[in-house]
Amino acid sequence: MTTAPRAVARAAAGCRQATGCDPEVVVRAPGRVNLMGDHTDYAGGFVLPMAIDADTAIALVRRAAPVVKLRSEGVDALARISLAEADDAHSASGWASYVEGVLRRLLATGTPARGWQGWLASDVPIGANLSSSAALELAVAHAACAVADQHRDPADLAVRAMEAEHGWPGTQCGIMDQLVVASATAGHAALIDCRSLAVTPVALPEDLAVVVMDTGVRRELTDSAYNQRRDEVQHAAELLGVETLRDVAVDTPGLGALPEPLRRRARHITSENGRVHAFAHALADSDRSAMGRLMRASHRSLAEDYEVSVPELGIAVDAATAQPACVGARQTGGGFGGCIVALVERDGVGAAVRGMASAYADRTGRIPQVRVTRPVAGASVVDQADASVG
Ligand code: GLA
Repeated sequence: MTTAPRAVARAAAGCRQATGCDPEVVVRAPGRVNLMGDHTDYAGGFVLPMAIDADTAIALVRRAAPVVKLRSEGVDALARISLAEADDAHSASGWASYVEGVLRRLLATGTPARGWQGWLASDVPIGANLSSSAALELAVAHAACAVADQHRDPADLAVRAMEAEHGWPGTQCGIMDQLVVASATAGHAALIDCRSLAVTPVALPEDLAVVVMDTGVRRELTDSAYNQRRDEVQHAAELLGVETLRDVAVDTPGLGALPEPLRRRARHITSENGRVHAFAHALADSDRSAMGRLMRASHRSLAEDYEVSVPELGIAVDAATAQPACVGARQTGGGFGGCIVALVERDGVGAAVRGMASAYADRTGRIPQVRVTRPVAGASVVDQADASVG
């Protein structure tokens, strides 16, 4: 069976085709899937995501003028960002605004202005809650640093990328996506303390496969619902007299006295933070029944207390958990559509993938994309030799 060339090879091929030369630099940044801890990052809490084996890649050549030009596979418009403009200039729109935001935040915080022309390709699906935005941001950040021969820490790059997302496209995201995309360790999920930004790698049991099923549902207005949840969580923290809900234990008496829906929102955050730690222990102990219980509880809490679900996500989770080899499943990421994640016994994964896809299709009439993925390393510069391989 032949497989399509991966993003790194396609980006390099795009550069060669346009310039007749090999790229001078190739970078890649992965998407991510979150195993446990959703909507806790912006409350200063805990999350347990991993980087997946689907990359966004940029292949580039240096240019003398202080301008970045980036062409994306399958998109007509060119992102063209002048590095000579003010640090807070907003000249780009659409996907190019992510590029502009990252470049401007890096320039403002000490990366020298160096021009380049790049070709971008991506295997991270857009709008599926697998962090295509963070992958784009971190690929651009690595490209800009590589061209300037500058090393910046992964956490620093992640914070600049998050600031870019807040200030340019305007999504008020937390730090989870950028930090795991920037700093993940191969073979491991990342236990992240979203207040201190400490990242602790947690090994995944080798006999478990990570399966991601895309419901195919894409929601409009996701940003406004997301920002509304952020406001509710902040309001709940203020009523409880704390800086963030990270500081509130699940059994704090004041929680029950909060007005609805703040009571349920706060219950989700406080219980989800506890589940992240419990899930990290369950992975270390290979405790299948704890993993399944925690994933089920998290899914329910996101659907009922946090209200960021849609029926298709529930159907997908039911389809996965009905498979004999499935250890547990939950919706993942921001919600309102996109993907579920399931942990599946590796020796039964083929049958489980077929079974969950057909059960989901039977109930919804939609054919889902299902991928068996693995935890890969965070964003990096790619060896030229690897960039030629499909
Ligand atoms: C989106 C945001 C993240 C996080 C998740 C939900 O992916 O970008 O910061 O809040 O939703 O866990």
